Amino acid sequence: TSHIPVITIDGPTASGKGTVAHKVADKLGFHLLDSGALYRLTALQALRRGTPLTDEHALAKLAEHLHIHFSGDAIFLSNENVSDAIRAEEVGNTASKIAALPPVRQALYGLQLSFRKAPGLVADGRDMGTVIFPHAQLKVFLTASVEARADRRYKQLIGKGISANMDDLLMDLRARDDRDTHRAIAPLVPAEGAHVLDTSNMTVETAVEQVLGWYAAAGR
Ligand code: CDP
Ligand code: CDP
Repeated sequence: TSHIPVITIDGPTASGKGTVAHKVADKLGFHLLDSGALYRLTALQALRRGTPLTDEHALAKLAEHLHIHFSGDAIFLSNENVSDAIRAEEVGNTASKIAALPPVRQALYGLQLSFRKAPGLVADGRDMGTVIFPHAQLKVFLTASVEARADRRYKQLIGKGISANMDDLLMDLRARDDRDTHRAIAPLVPAEGAHVLDTSNMTVETAVEQVLGWYAAAGR
């Protein structure tokens, strides 16, 4: 599979990775790996089963035995559509806690590699370019100011009819950034050779065009 092209898009929460990855994959007709969803699915299982977040081996077992399947934009766990359930802030926070545990990351490693299928893959997350696909044809690191990101989350939540508080969002976002950036394993950092794109004042469309431009140039 090493000849199958991969584009990695890493970055902090609400930097726009998911949205940009989706659109780039659509444009190129590539497969998509939302790696954060795998950590969120594991977190959702742990919360539902009451698995202690200190029991790394039980958590790794959950990760290893996830019965997931993707259908269009929907994500199923066993036969339940959990697309909305995994987006809850509590699930995101729990995901970032269990993502710091090496056995959990190890358990999800092979599953992530299996998404690399012809004609190509766009993978988004925190360590797509540093750990999972270090030889990707194109690596992108998206960032945006903490204020811009909190504002995006706020609008997303309000748009879904969920009440949100800007101060709480800023606090959660900073805590998650801090955990993701300072953990010992697979910390959030730009991969070697990654193109860094600050989207604070950029539309989604402009970011997508930039990534497609870099990809076209990388193939030359
Ligand atoms: O996947 P990630 O958490 O990095 O972010 P996302 O869920 O893709 O994006 C968060 C929100 O920011 C979405 O509603 C995007 O439409 C929006 N966004 C934006 O307003 N401007 C950008 N340049 C990128 C994303
Ligand atoms: O959408 P958002 O950026 O908020 O989060 P996500 O990409 O769905 O990921 C949720 C959590 O999973 C992150 O806070 C990370 O701690 C973890 N994660 C990770 O460690 N490695 C990845 N490749 C993807 C997510």
